[in-house]
Amino acid sequence: MSDTLTKLTYQTLQQGKSYFSLAHKTLSVRLMNIISTVHRQFKPIPNEVIRILEQKLNDLLEVDWQDAERGIYPKSLLFDNPWEDFFRYYPAEWLDLPQRWLRANQKKYQEFSTQIDTLDYPSYYVQNFHYQTDGYLSDLSANLYDLQVELLFGGSADVMRRRILAPLVLALHATSVHPRQIRILDVACGTGRTLKLIRSALPQASLYGTDLSPAYLRKANELLSQIPGELPQLLQANAEELPYLDNYFHAVTSVFLFHELPATVRQRVIEECFRVTKPGGIFILCDSIQMSDSPEMQPTMEFFDDTYHEPYYKHYTTDNLVERLEKAGFENIEMQVHFLSKYLIAHKPI
Ligand SMILES: C[S@@+](CC[C@H](N)C(=O)[O-])C[C@H]1O[C@@H](n2cnc3c(N)ncnc32)[C@H](O)[C@@H]1O
Repeated sequence: MSDTLTKLTYQTLQQGKSYFSLAHKTLSVRLMNIISTVHRQFKPIPNEVIRILEQKLNDLLEVDWQDAERGIYPKSLLFDNPWEDFFRYYPAEWLDLPQRWLRANQKKYQEFSTQIDTLDYPSYYVQNFHYQTDGYLSDLSANLYDLQVELLFGGSADVMRRRILAPLVLALHATSVHPRQIRILDVACGTGRTLKLIRSALPQASLYGTDLSPAYLRKANELLSQIPGELPQLLQANAEELPYLDNYFHAVTSVFLFHELPATVRQRVIEECFRVTKPGGIFILCDSIQMSDSPEMQPTMEFFDDTYHEPYYKHYTTDNLVERLEKAGFENIEMQVHFLSKYLIAHKPI
């Protein structure tokens, strides 16, 4: 396929995902108001904000394309979607919605079935984040997660995750370390999407992932074991106490974790990431935009904690992450913003 055609196909596919997500959201809110006793008002996003968002999404797709074109990752990655899972679990997503509406209406944030053992986890974690059934602690939640995140971000979740790859690949290529000896850790790896993207860009590196959720790690293992090459090592661990030696990794990444941590825990996790990164190594944090990054999104961000039950989000949106990284010892911190995510690229001094 010619490059122009490939690019057009990619843009059309992304556009299709975006329209589908919008249709899904509109339909689910209508349905909630028709068939459920739960009535929640969602403030519509003004048209001029929608136009800004569309432009930012187009910019994101353009950098994604450019990075593939300059060989940071293969173009095939642009088309990599877990379609089978999406189709398989889409009905389950609808079936689960009424329970989430009810939870939201009754303000039940810590509702877990009796089969789920919640005792071994920090209390800040035992939450129905996004009002989701079982929080992060069941196979159902792990099966629905990627679909839910793609619906939330209009099909751009992986595209935003891919923004960590250029700084990661360029920093590692600049070192004299042999590609086979490179060690990369993804903290709070969830269902393994980021590790899969890193594997495509750096096929020879040794990859490691940690998460608190056994169910999400099982899902990650299912995904990653389908990829040829060395299987990433997955460990259940609290990001506050990473089970690795000091100065062990050439690079550490973390995607969409920090907005789900209380402020003090955010600092402890950054300090752990600093500890396990080698001197001269890189730490890349990707998470939601903050208030100062996107003035037009401020009203939406104000309500996000309530709309999606994100108890630590409000504090996160004004938290000074650069200061936190510097406090831990990182230096030379670069910040980027792409669509609805921001990126902090920090270096551990040599
Ligand atoms: C929003 S999800 C992000 C997952 C994944 N990184 C992604 O890109 O989709 C947050 C993840 O952080 C994990 N998590 C939350 N607090 C944690 C902690 N203290 N230690 C380890 N993992 C944690 C959850 O289990 C969940 O998988």
